[in-house]
Amino acid sequence: MTLPAKETGQVATPPPIAMLAELTHRCPLACPYCSNPLELARANEELSTSEWIETFRQAAALGVLHLHLSGGEPASRRDLIDLTKAAVSLGLYTNLITSGIGLTEARVDKLSAAGLDHVQLSIQGTRAPSADHVSGCDGGHARKLSVAGWLRDAGIPLTLNAVCHRRNMGEIEDIISLAIELGARRVEIATVQFHGWAMLNQKALMPTMDQVAKATSIVETMRARLEGVLVIDYVPADYYATYPKACMGGWGRAGFNVTPSGRVLPCHAAETIKHLAFDNVRARPLGEIWYNGGAFNAFRGDGWMPEPCRSCERKDIDFGGCRCQAMALAGDASATDPVCRKSPHRKAVDRRIIDDTEVNDTEVRDIEVSDIETPRPPFRYRG
Ligand code: SF4
Ligand code: FES
Repeated sequence: MTLPAKETGQVATPPPIAMLAELTHRCPLACPYCSNPLELARANEELSTSEWIETFRQAAALGVLHLHLSGGEPASRRDLIDLTKAAVSLGLYTNLITSGIGLTEARVDKLSAAGLDHVQLSIQGTRAPSADHVSGCDGGHARKLSVAGWLRDAGIPLTLNAVCHRRNMGEIEDIISLAIELGARRVEIATVQFHGWAMLNQKALMPTMDQVAKATSIVETMRARLEGVLVIDYVPADYYATYPKACMGGWGRAGFNVTPSGRVLPCHAAETIKHLAFDNVRARPLGEIWYNGGAFNAFRGDGWMPEPCRSCERKDIDFGGCRCQAMALAGDASATDPVCRKSPHRKAVDRRIIDDTEVNDTEVRDIEVSDIETPRPPFRYRG
């Protein structure tokens, strides 16, 4: 059933389709492009099992269809099976976004019995030494391959996900082959997005123009070759694009995130926009937050848009791009996304590309772990 759109003052707001539940920020890995915020929520701040289930209930009543169980590492939550069962019983399509570390064969079987619909398993590359180096987890890559086998045996549909950056852009063909070998139905090759930890490590991660061009050509060739065998989703490099992407399908239009401590965000990086105040599910019903929350209404419609967005023919396609990128690069969340060729800030993006990629191969190899900032989890995963 599709719920009707509601008038929220400026525009008719449709109900949300998807909710991303960041169950925890705890994670046994320490990837330098982690999407967690720089300030991690502690375990004692996390929503309890019953608070998460109540949030799922409100989300389902609001019209949410897809629930992404994410983190940090969601398997770090001991109640993951109970949360999955509850979400399934509410009629939500459940997708577990995991590194695989923390899953055992027995746990995978229990997730399958709970009715989990889909798993998105991340890898850091195809070669164990470099993948383990990126994740900071010895033996992590081998473990992920085992997890993929257990998922296949349990019959849970699998998407393999790889964040690509300057260190592993040359492995795209191998990543696609690995996805087929592991029985995945879909592979997501996402070029690193520069927010949070990735922005701190931009110099080490920024792909070169040559890498981006090769990656695009490989993806096009492989898509044609593997039609009907494997779906290849490709998130191209933002900074090299002509126009920005419609981040989150538009601010407050399709979905939202709930942080481990219950704050409801229009996107995972929204807290970098410091003048916005975010409601918490502990204090306000989800429906009110979605339709009437100040943060959600801040960038709905086109009333907030400056020129050139306001009179641009693409404003209903990309909605002016990414608000967090505008904040990070232009210092103004309501600016035109600086990636856009029409943005007055575009030159700053080009400058960054040049500054970050003016290195030769020797320098790339020589960057040490100590030069990279990683999210240091305040709590290690146990058992
Ligand atoms: Fe999109 Fe604004 Fe650029 Fe037009 S000017 S393409 S709406 S970001
Ligand atoms: Fe926040 Fe794009 S990441 S709007």
